[in-house]
Amino acid sequence: MSEQLHHDSQSVLEARSLARHYDIGGGFFSKPKTVKALASASFNLQAGKTLAVVGESGCGKSTLARVATLIETPTAGELLIDGADVAHASSEEMKRLRQDVQIVFQDPYGSLNPRKKIGTILEEPMVINSDASAAERKERALEMLTKVGLRREHYNRYPHMFSGGQRQRIAVARALMLQPRILVADEPVSALDVSIQAQVLNLLMDLQEEFNLAYLFISHDLSVVRHIADEVMVMYLGRPVEHGPRDAIFQNPMHPYTKALLASTPAVDPRHRVERIKLKGELPSPINPPSGCAFHQRCPFAEARCSTERPELTDFPRQKVACHFADTINQDQTAA
Ligand SMILES: Nc1ncnc2c1ncn2[C@@H]1O[C@H](COP(=O)(O)OP(=O)(O)OP(=O)(O)O)[C@@H](O)[C@H]1O
Ligand code: SF4
Ligand SMILES: [Mg+2]
Repeated sequence: MSEQLHHDSQSVLEARSLARHYDIGGGFFSKPKTVKALASASFNLQAGKTLAVVGESGCGKSTLARVATLIETPTAGELLIDGADVAHASSEEMKRLRQDVQIVFQDPYGSLNPRKKIGTILEEPMVINSDASAAERKERALEMLTKVGLRREHYNRYPHMFSGGQRQRIAVARALMLQPRILVADEPVSALDVSIQAQVLNLLMDLQEEFNLAYLFISHDLSVVRHIADEVMVMYLGRPVEHGPRDAIFQNPMHPYTKALLASTPAVDPRHRVERIKLKGELPSPINPPSGCAFHQRCPFAEARCSTERPELTDFPRQKVACHFADTINQDQTAA
């Protein structure tokens, strides 16, 4: 087996049955309901590697991002950062863990305070979390500006003087000020022109190599994921349905949902023609998810068992798949 999913010794971020639910409603005419935005996810992220999380809008990607960056606490399951279980960390340890994992959001226009100079924006995390002197902070901010491809004189400018791509560079610089080990990027290039996307992706890959950063890279755009991912995790209604090395996922997707996603992205790679599985209907609501396999109403291979019994993520030679019929559907690939 040439590609392995786990190198536990280097794992910097680990999720074990991680879940985040939201209680909503409870208005005049309605009972309170629970949205299982993140129903249960388990994975391992290694230093220097990129795990891409993909899936349709509403499948729980941003929820996972907020939980992984400690913006929200999990409803259930465990989250380990650098081997430390977040739930049992002391407040001192928590401070360090918060520095270890940083986030970059999608919107380069909303994420930078328009009234603050770039230098101030960059130094803010250090003011809060370090004892560095003003001179040391400034030196670090100037250094980070050049690391992300901007110039030292940008230090005194305001966000409105920058393009979307430059603003995303600033957001990346800010995220890296405290030398984190993990960067969670939630659709970091989706708001940018396609011509700018590649530049920002290349920057992210250069920074990853230089600082041995681990990326949890969230995107609905498979052509972007193909470019940057080491591993891909496909989510459906708050659960991973397929997870494996990038090439396994793109060349031999095994879950019907992954096949459908790839089939709807013809630009991904014309050499690897995937079965043309069309997605039927809409994504069901996570408030009242379908029984059994959550994909069964949309799946062309569904049988009776699929509506009653939820498939677990199961090991196959190259990837993990949650489908009762992954073997029969993929006979050509699994027979070997
Ligand atoms: N704070 C919240 N309160 C209630 N429901 C929420 C909350 N945050 C997210 N949800 C719901 O949880 C589900 C997952 O949302 P999430 O934002 O994680 O999806 P996503 O995969 O990031 O989607 P997108 O691709 O559109 O960004 C959605 O049904 C959403 O409406
Ligand atoms: S378990 Fe059944 S419904 Fe779910 S993906 Fe597999 S075949 Fe389709
Ligand atoms: Mg989102």
